Amino acid sequence: MSGAVAQRRTAHPNGRRLHPWSVRVMHWTNAVAMLVMITSGWGIYDDAVIIRGLHFSKGLRLGDWAAWSLNWHFAGMWLLAINGLCYLIYGVLTGRLRERLLPIRLHDVIQTVRDTLRLKIEHNDLTTYNAVQKILYIVVILAGVSQVVTGLAIWKPIQFSRLVSLLGGFQWARFIHFAGMSVIVGFLVVHVLLALLVPQTLWAMLTGGPRVGPSGHGAPEGMR
Ligand code: HEM
Repeated sequence: MSGAVAQRRTAHPNGRRLHPWSVRVMHWTNAVAMLVMITSGWGIYDDAVIIRGLHFSKGLRLGDWAAWSLNWHFAGMWLLAINGLCYLIYGVLTGRLRERLLPIRLHDVIQTVRDTLRLKIEHNDLTTYNAVQKILYIVVILAGVSQVVTGLAIWKPIQFSRLVSLLGGFQWARFIHFAGMSVIVGFLVVHVLLALLVPQTLWAMLTGGPRVGPSGHGAPEGMR
């Protein structure tokens, strides 16, 4: 959390958990589903590469050969799509998405980038995401939605022919699907690195974290 932007907060003694059990279950289910989709996708990709010379080594692929990877991909897609839909419906109905990911202020973005460049990445207030975190989460959620939509177009190009033309044709749909995967993998590298650098966030995503008030945030220090 950006030192200048963050207001120090303490836990709300009687509030709900920062990450309720439902969010934790959906988050970790999503992590498993994403890993299955990414590694099986690499197995399928290797059968008909998009970028000449770019291959994924056997150790990184789920499935011994393309048809086996495809089976994993089809199994994982249900988990990813159903779990993702539950997260989005839950996030909209409970107001969590708005509460955690909005608002994003330009000033906060600049301050967070400055702090990060100075390697000031402490996360004093677990109950509030910094502006860059919010942007990254929104981007990865949109990338996930895009993967499902482009995946449908590649999976059933005849039935979803309108969608395929909207995406610019089959090859474009495939390319956008590959680009979405790259965005998610890029996010994952940074996300996991930050979680390991600030392990109390990882602990909170496992156990629920501090208790928060009705606004979804901790109580400002000195107010209780
Ligand atoms: C591609 C897979 C993943 C995606 C798309 C993803 C996405 C997200 C999103 C959107 C949130 C915010 C959730 C919310 O507050 O409602 C979040 C939080 C979090 N994720 Fe992930 N995640 C993934 C994998 C992982 C993995 C593998 C780890 C473990 C190293 C991890 C650790 C965390 C932690 C610790 C938080 C809380 C961050 C904080 O409180 O600052 N995630 N993740």
